[in-house]
Amino acid sequence: MEKRSRFFVFVCLLVLANSAATAEDHLNEEEKIKRIDTHCHYIPGFHRQVLREKNVSSGGFPLPGWNVSSYLAFMDLLNISISVISVSTPGAVVKGLSIDQARALARELKEYGYNLTKQYPKRFKFFATFTLPDVEGSVSETVYALDTLGAAGIIALASTSGELLGNPLYEALYAELDKRHAIVFVHPGQSPSSPEAVECNYFKQHGASTIHCGFLTRHNTSSCVFGLQKRDPEVSEYQVHFGTGGFLPFATTRIIGALQLLTGWPESFILSQLQAFYVDTALSANRYTLPSTLALLNTTQLTFGSDFPYAQSKAISQNTLNLDQYIQDNLKKGALEQVRFKNAQDILSHV
Ligand SMILES: *[C@@H]1O[C@H](CO)[C@@H](O)[C@H](O)[C@H]1NC(C)=O
Ligand SMILES: *[C@@H]1O[C@H](CO)[C@@H](O)[C@H](O)[C@H]1NC(C)=O
Ligand SMILES: *[C@@H]1O[C@H](CO)[C@@H](O)[C@H](O)[C@H]1NC(C)=O
Ligand SMILES: *[C@@H]1O[C@H](CO)[C@@H](O)[C@H](O)[C@H]1NC(C)=O
Ligand SMILES: *[C@@H]1O[C@H](CO)[C@@H](O)[C@H](O)[C@H]1NC(C)=O
Ligand SMILES: *[C@@H]1O[C@H](CO)[C@@H](O)[C@H](O)[C@H]1NC(C)=O
Repeated sequence: MEKRSRFFVFVCLLVLANSAATAEDHLNEEEKIKRIDTHCHYIPGFHRQVLREKNVSSGGFPLPGWNVSSYLAFMDLLNISISVISVSTPGAVVKGLSIDQARALARELKEYGYNLTKQYPKRFKFFATFTLPDVEGSVSETVYALDTLGAAGIIALASTSGELLGNPLYEALYAELDKRHAIVFVHPGQSPSSPEAVECNYFKQHGASTIHCGFLTRHNTSSCVFGLQKRDPEVSEYQVHFGTGGFLPFATTRIIGALQLLTGWPESFILSQLQAFYVDTALSANRYTLPSTLALLNTTQLTFGSDFPYAQSKAISQNTLNLDQYIQDNLKKGALEQVRFKNAQDILSHV
């Protein structure tokens, strides 16, 4: 990947690993299309227990059930050959845990993810969890995950403990990621303002993470982009993603305007940066969203995402149908394969 620095807000990987099939690999050779899922999660029992003990929800939703066998059954149902799994919000930074406890939890979560990739080498890759805003711990855990555990990348919550991902104080972490051309899957986190402040009844009732996602993108996308991109405008390859990318097309002109004002960078440069983002399709791919997303982004920038198990299998199936239908009706031949797996395969092949 030559000089390219990759900050992906979202994506996943293809296993070119020459691993032998295990007994648990459900798909046989000729069935192997299919999909690579770049937005999907795992919830080991020990994580569930910590969240329960600390009375913490995941983005305002109750924790869904999760185990490996039901996960593999889901993958087979959706023809997902590879899932790049990650830990959803709040990750390892659980309210009530000390920094050392959070680091230990992050380590255990990574090792669990790593173990799964060893046990099912053809089915799982993982994005590693770390402990921002604890920069020191995040750097060492990131290095360990990428260099020792062979993680496909990291999952970065858009904010944790009130700090946004674009925070200049995170420079040491960006430098490590940059050095390794790491994939960064940016996922909604808690609101950067106090989580309590936005968790009024309405938000609780309707799912806080949905709302946070809107908040983050509406008010903070440009600062996030700015924080990451301002590092080295000469190297025009920082890539940041916004989950489903749902808001990005609508914010494009505002981001460009703000960045021009702050940096003096030409519009074409900023636009090319935005267009280098990858976005996943989790729960948001339909005839309302895709026209805008695809007006901004090339089909090379879309990857399949499910948000399993937080999204239920039925909703994911419907979203997948909508996505495929839209692509077939509106895009060039070949786009279906690009979005289903080729784009992800391409990104992950550089890991
Ligand atoms: C757990 O959190 C819920 C929602 O924030 C709150 O209503 C409840 O009182 C909390 N329970 C405990 C034991 O802290
Ligand atoms: C796995 O999870 C599924 C869905 O939550 C559940 O129905 C099933 O009983 C679980 N299986 C085991 C072995 O725990
Ligand atoms: C999965 O593949 C099977 C067999 O090719 C096909 O019948 C089914 O419609 C596919 N389902 C999805 C969601 O792609
Ligand atoms: C990962 O696997 C190793 C070796 O089997 C085991 O000792 C360890 O407890 C596992 N870690 C987790 C977090 O599951
Ligand atoms: C957005 O980010 C800025 C600076 O990073 C922060 O000061 C501000 O509170 C954030 N806005 C919201 C709505 O959270
Ligand atoms: C999309 O990207 C491909 C590969 O880089 C390129 O050949 C194609 O021209 C691009 N399409 C558009 C509409 O920019």
